[in-house]
Amino acid sequence: MNTAVRKAVFPVAGLGTRFLPATKANPKEMLPIVDKPLIQYAAEEAVAAGIEQLIFVTGRTKRAIEDHFDKAYELENELAKAEKTRMLEIVRNVLPPHVECIYIRQAEPLGLGHAVLCARPVIGDEPFAVLLADDLIYSEEQGCLSQMVEIHRAEGVGGVIAVEEVAPADTGRYGIVAVASQETEVGAIRQIVEKPAPADAPSNLAVVGRYILPGSIMEVLARTRRGAGGEIQLTDGIASLLSQERMLAYRFHGKRFDCGSKLGYLQATVAFAMQHPELGAAFRGYLQSLR
Ligand code: UTP
Repeated sequence: MNTAVRKAVFPVAGLGTRFLPATKANPKEMLPIVDKPLIQYAAEEAVAAGIEQLIFVTGRTKRAIEDHFDKAYELENELAKAEKTRMLEIVRNVLPPHVECIYIRQAEPLGLGHAVLCARPVIGDEPFAVLLADDLIYSEEQGCLSQMVEIHRAEGVGGVIAVEEVAPADTGRYGIVAVASQETEVGAIRQIVEKPAPADAPSNLAVVGRYILPGSIMEVLARTRRGAGGEIQLTDGIASLLSQERMLAYRFHGKRFDCGSKLGYLQATVAFAMQHPELGAAFRGYLQSLR
């Protein structure tokens, strides 16, 4: 069996209700941070981690994502005619040529677990990554998924899930894990629960949107019933998997921005604009002028 992680699933079929009306005709993963859509940051992080096949699980607003990663003949012609070579480069190199994109339709938004299950025919029994593009992770050096792929390879485990500490009052917004030791960077997951109330939470270690999962999760998800919010939860599938696979929680290096929320989205925009090669200096100057 292949143990290298070569495939990544991007569930982009959520309703994105927190961003309406911006998400009425566009998936929230197409919202830009400065000049790149969220989905492109996630795709670049995956490609940097060695992923060769990107599997997008799309919903009713599927066209925008397909168009973004597709060749844009007319636009390329216009840019070439106008000799806008730099822009042409940017448009042509959204993804490197060896990377393949596959689109699968989730007919109904039945939950993240269901969205991942939709990719089953393409995943087979290989390990694969799942990236939620609305969790944007800024890393100074190695991207979050690259860090996880290294741990997955070195430890030879079933899966690796990125986690971070959250305020105890916020556990009800996340999947929460209990690990053997909360002191270490990598810990074996003992328990995982979806959105527990603070009083019921086994810890304050929250799952963020990066997973490496074994192909065997698909069989488990196919049997998973609707859980919190009436949705088929990925967390519930992982909880069932714990009896057969060793799974690690990994406190990644980097800063996560919750771009599914308006505040997180704005924080990411400010952080990325301040670092932007062309815009950074002017933007920092502007922020200072506001003081
Ligand atoms: P969220 O829980 O953030 O839900 O989904 P949402 O619908 O996208 O956004 P809000 O809460 O209504 O504003 C987490 C991830 O799972 C995907 C979403 O696209 C997002 O990346 N998802 C969720 C699906 O692909 N399908 C689903 O049925 C549910």
